[in-house]
Amino acid sequence: MSDPKEKIIFALDVDHFSEAQRWVRLLKDKVGIFKVGKQLFTHSGPKVVDMILQKGQKVFLDLKFHDIPNTVARAGEEATKLNVTMFNLHALGGFEMMKKAMEASRATAKDLGISKPLILAVTVLTSMDEAGLKEVGIQGPVLDEVERLATLALKAGIDGVVASPKEIGAIRKRCGEKFLIVTPGIRLPSEKKDDQKRTLSPKEAIQTGANYLVIGRPIKDAKDPIAAVQKIVEDISS
Ligand code: C5P
Repeated sequence: MSDPKEKIIFALDVDHFSEAQRWVRLLKDKVGIFKVGKQLFTHSGPKVVDMILQKGQKVFLDLKFHDIPNTVARAGEEATKLNVTMFNLHALGGFEMMKKAMEASRATAKDLGISKPLILAVTVLTSMDEAGLKEVGIQGPVLDEVERLATLALKAGIDGVVASPKEIGAIRKRCGEKFLIVTPGIRLPSEKKDDQKRTLSPKEAIQTGANYLVIGRPIKDAKDPIAAVQKIVEDISS
């Protein structure tokens, strides 16, 4: 198995550049990737991505693009120019949007002589349930919709999906071994679950088919964050 720490994506859910800097200094080389989401990016902008890269670390730009194909393709080019390792978009933006984003990112990376970032699709937000989907005109079980959108993403050439623990098995079965699955909602059995309703342990998530684990509070709120990362690594390796 590859180095377990490479599978850990730390969610930099903070609202200040200096706070982000403190976490990157602390967890540098202890986790595989730092996730920059809407809050931190809206506050600090691309300089936070540069700061992480300058420390020799990788970035997952979690901005979940969703717009007309041309706009998402242009945003994808900019994400590619930032030299992030991963970025994401909403599969609900449709086949054309995903395909165009993929092509634009590939072309930009080629021009710059860098690797194309991995592009992940968000299927159904975990905050949505069957009733919520019905309100926006989508009928049927959430998992059916997740599987449908993951399959569409795969057809559009997208590299993988962000999926909740309960979706990993079905997506892996449907989309094959090469399709990446990035999973939040990870907790060690002894930990509090915060607002995550259904969690898996790091080891369980990897065994079920996840390639990467997004972990925030179990590390951020720990008395000793480095020891918390160590425990996660040990759980994966056990
Ligand atoms: O603190 P915690 O480990 O729950 O953080 C999980 C991270 O993954 C957060 O950044 C959260 O926004 C993100 N996320 C999630 N559930 C999803 C998608 C993303 O918790 N379905």
